[in-house]
Amino acid sequence: MEIIKDPAAFQKQSQAWRAEGLRVALVPTMGALHAGHFKLIECARQMADRVSVSIFLNPIQFGPNEDLAKYPKTFEADAAGCRERGVDAIFAPVPGDVYPPGFQTTVHVDGLTSPLCGRSRPGHFDGVTTVVLKLLLLGQPSVALFGWKDAQQLLVIRRMARDLNVPVEIMGIEIVREADGLAMSSRNVYLKPEERREAPRIHKGLEAARKAFQAGERDTDKLLAAARKPIEECPLMRIDYLEARSLETLEELKEAKAGDTLIAAAVFLGSTRLIDNIRL
Ligand code: PAF
Repeated sequence: MEIIKDPAAFQKQSQAWRAEGLRVALVPTMGALHAGHFKLIECARQMADRVSVSIFLNPIQFGPNEDLAKYPKTFEADAAGCRERGVDAIFAPVPGDVYPPGFQTTVHVDGLTSPLCGRSRPGHFDGVTTVVLKLLLLGQPSVALFGWKDAQQLLVIRRMARDLNVPVEIMGIEIVREADGLAMSSRNVYLKPEERREAPRIHKGLEAARKAFQAGERDTDKLLAAARKPIEECPLMRIDYLEARSLETLEELKEAKAGDTLIAAAVFLGSTRLIDNIRL
């Protein structure tokens, strides 16, 4: 497994693979890899001849009061995990090489970035789409894999790739959860023990909404009320958003439709903001 820091060298390696007719998969990450990332890597391994993983803590997708400085950095363990799973190349550039002096381009996707995390984290998705387009151009993948946990991010990146005719398949991979239901996230390490104990309430709420849907309820106010209950019962939790939206357009839904409903939540536990979702 190669560890490549230089963007031009990574692009050259990717181009050489493509020139040999190999199918390349890219798994973009910010490091602090967990079982969710490893599932992306394992899926990538099954569908491509070469697998690249980018490990880049992208500064431009963090707001001024967010957790960029304290974001966990575990490069040695990340590299070992990638090596074990047969990754061919890790791309781990420094910010100055990704955004050299004079860099002045932003990739902006419109409507899909307005609600949910786009409302709570202004500018976040511009940072994501800008770096992801760069990673796609450098890594030259036929397929790039992202987790459904960041459902809005997945939809935004898919839209960008379609709108800009980027020749890549953007693939969503199911959320990986802890045994108690908490969605895997690099941010789970911020939780204090008492917060960690309560954190599965988010999943419990979402599953209560799913159960109500399966029992025939379609009114999203009622589904959201079911989801909100276990979260609101916990004094440590504060809901940032909990909404039912179309999986296609992210428009708010009054009536849930099978196959086109995303129930997405962002919840603060102390200063840690966790996101999770279900698709109906
Ligand atoms: O989901 C993430 O880890 C990041 O947003 C991504 C897609 C790697 C872009 O920095």
